[in-house]
Amino acid sequence: MPTVLVLGATSDIGIAIATAFTKDRCYILLAARDTEQLQPLQSDMIIRHGVKCDIFRFDATDFASHKAFYDSLPVKPDVTICVFGYMNDNEVVIRDEAETLRTINTNYTGAVSILNIVAADYAAKKQGIIVGISSVAGERGRYSNYIYGSAKAGFTAYLSGLRNRMFHEKVHVMTVLPGFVYTRMTEHLALPKLLTATPEYVGRAVYKGVIKRKNTLYVKWFWKWIMLIIKMVPEPVFKRKKL
Ligand SMILES: NC(=O)c1ccc[n+]([C@@H]2O[C@H](COP(=O)([O-])OP(=O)(O)OC[C@H]3O[C@@H](n4cnc5c(N)ncnc54)[C@H](OP(=O)(O)O)[C@@H]3O)[C@@H](O)[C@H]2O)c1
Repeated sequence: MPTVLVLGATSDIGIAIATAFTKDRCYILLAARDTEQLQPLQSDMIIRHGVKCDIFRFDATDFASHKAFYDSLPVKPDVTICVFGYMNDNEVVIRDEAETLRTINTNYTGAVSILNIVAADYAAKKQGIIVGISSVAGERGRYSNYIYGSAKAGFTAYLSGLRNRMFHEKVHVMTVLPGFVYTRMTEHLALPKLLTATPEYVGRAVYKGVIKRKNTLYVKWFWKWIMLIIKMVPEPVFKRKKL
């Protein structure tokens, strides 16, 4: 029975991923800032999905706590999935230093801090799977979302380098690049229905991607081609678009 750790388990996408992994009767470790919020999820995992499940307190921006958090886990996970993230309105973020740092530290520094610890354990054991939920927002800096986008770009580059290094340690690293997803993070936005996935769709895609040992996974698949086109738009044109 594989053990799966979900970091940021109160997120809509995190819940959907954890649920997708119950299919394999995995032992689910749910980690988030608010363990009270995790309790109903834990009950759901145990009662409705019939799997073993425990909950842990984890704060992505409390970097100094990360080693003790990982050491405290009763069983080290076979699969670690880094889901947490933070996005606020870019206009607010660029004017408020605390918001700028929160965006960078949640989406990039916090993820690197905990995954370095997990990766060192997996490298020593010569096994394990690491999954990072990044974003297509990191594929090109945009007028309207470049602080969040640049933090995700850093995370995507980190995961790429980690995958290259960990390949030689028999550890697999998968980068997940969702497009739009209907979640708490995007509920204030008018998202185009055709381009937007549900968290459940993302959960199933991540599960299948892990089984197939995918390196990079766009969700939905057509985002790979959308981003290719967006990256090809010449800078003199792109900067006029205010996208
Ligand atoms: N929704 C989209 O369209 C979309 C697209 C591409 C990528 N993504 C990425 O998908 C991931 C999941 O997001 P979501 O859409 O499911 O949104 P969400 O429901 O708002 O989830 C965000 C999660 O991050 C957690 N978090 C924030 N700061 C944290 C911290 N310091 N320590 C620990 N956890 C922290 C939140 O915990 P609390 O419950 O404690 O606030 C929450 O569980 C994120 O990485 C996001 O960037 C989302």
